[in-house]
Amino acid sequence: MYNSRISGLGMYVPENIVTNDDLSKMMNTSSDWIIERTGIEQRRHIKKGDGNSTAKMGVKAAKIAIKRAGIATNDIELILFATLSPDYYFPGSGVIVQEELGIPTCPAMDIRTQCSGFVYAMSTADQFVKTGMYKNVLVIGSENQSGGLDMTTRGRGVSVIFGDGAGAAVVSRETDLSKGIMSSHLHSEGEHAKELSIIDPNTSRWIPEIIADNNPDDISFYPYMNGQFVFKNAVTRFSEVINEGLEKNGWESKDIDLLIPHQANLRIAQFIQRKFRLSDDQVYNNIQKYGNTTAASIPIALTEAWEAGKVKEGGKVVLAAFGSGFTWGSVMINW
Ligand code: ACO
Repeated sequence: MYNSRISGLGMYVPENIVTNDDLSKMMNTSSDWIIERTGIEQRRHIKKGDGNSTAKMGVKAAKIAIKRAGIATNDIELILFATLSPDYYFPGSGVIVQEELGIPTCPAMDIRTQCSGFVYAMSTADQFVKTGMYKNVLVIGSENQSGGLDMTTRGRGVSVIFGDGAGAAVVSRETDLSKGIMSSHLHSEGEHAKELSIIDPNTSRWIPEIIADNNPDDISFYPYMNGQFVFKNAVTRFSEVINEGLEKNGWESKDIDLLIPHQANLRIAQFIQRKFRLSDDQVYNNIQKYGNTTAASIPIALTEAWEAGKVKEGGKVVLAAFGSGFTWGSVMINW
């Protein structure tokens, strides 16, 4: 019998800082509007020519995580790559990481559950380690979203929210069954797939058709978000899935040492904090600096919290996410 634990964490964000004031030069928006609705003050965007891609940022974060795990790169037996913005339409970015890390051959797969991607990937890693199949699994969440946003007033409801970056965790075998990932809880509800989505290209409207249409008003290849509907579902599902994890482990909300919610929107995180009566010390948010980095947001926040000494040995850490799909989930950890 084995358990799994996080043995190393790392993060990387591009150098290029884009402030709310920078955005207000490109579209009709204001820093006050963005901060009031989302809490975001700035985000990072990849700059053309800076050498970054979704996989390359993931590799940078992964190298730090592997070093901190105290293992050799070749000890990684499985790569799980969570992203909605892979380097290529196919293949996935996991295989690029395998090549760039110089791992001879190993399984590598992408997980396409958007904002819940890291939580889904952690749960998947946990299963492979608990069964004894692998000792070390590399889990990456990375996004290059900026290049695909509509940076005009037309797209402002979405484009002010999202940022680029990567985070990584090494999930390793743990023989003390009272330590590590205690449980994970995953859900989806495809009924709402289109409420937060990019619809084109798809197999009934492939790229040649989009090009042939040559329609300047076509916005089907930009992200669409029904903001208020997403907000309402997010607060409900976040609460449910955190409660599910607490009940499974016999924990109460006062037992939580650190909740890392997916950094969707500061208002959502604050709502959850109030609902579970958590103090500021019990919740870690950094959306103010990075915006919503989708699958990368939890590993970036977890890495920062760990670097700041907020993740303590024996502490109860809860990861929770909600996003496009809809998909949602939680991971309950005894650190
Ligand atoms: N700057 C200025 N004005 C804007 C902007 C902007 N960036 N975006 C929209 N507006 C305008 C709208 O055009 C609208 O104007 P109108 O009243 O003249 O029509 C007005 O502001 C209000 O727009 P709403 O969309 O109703 O604004 P809302 O208060 O719902 O806030 C927001 C939008 C922030 C997206 C909110 O709905 C929200 O937080 N939703 C949750 C979704 C979320 O967090 N998504 C993150 C990604 S999903 C995930 O990670 C789970």
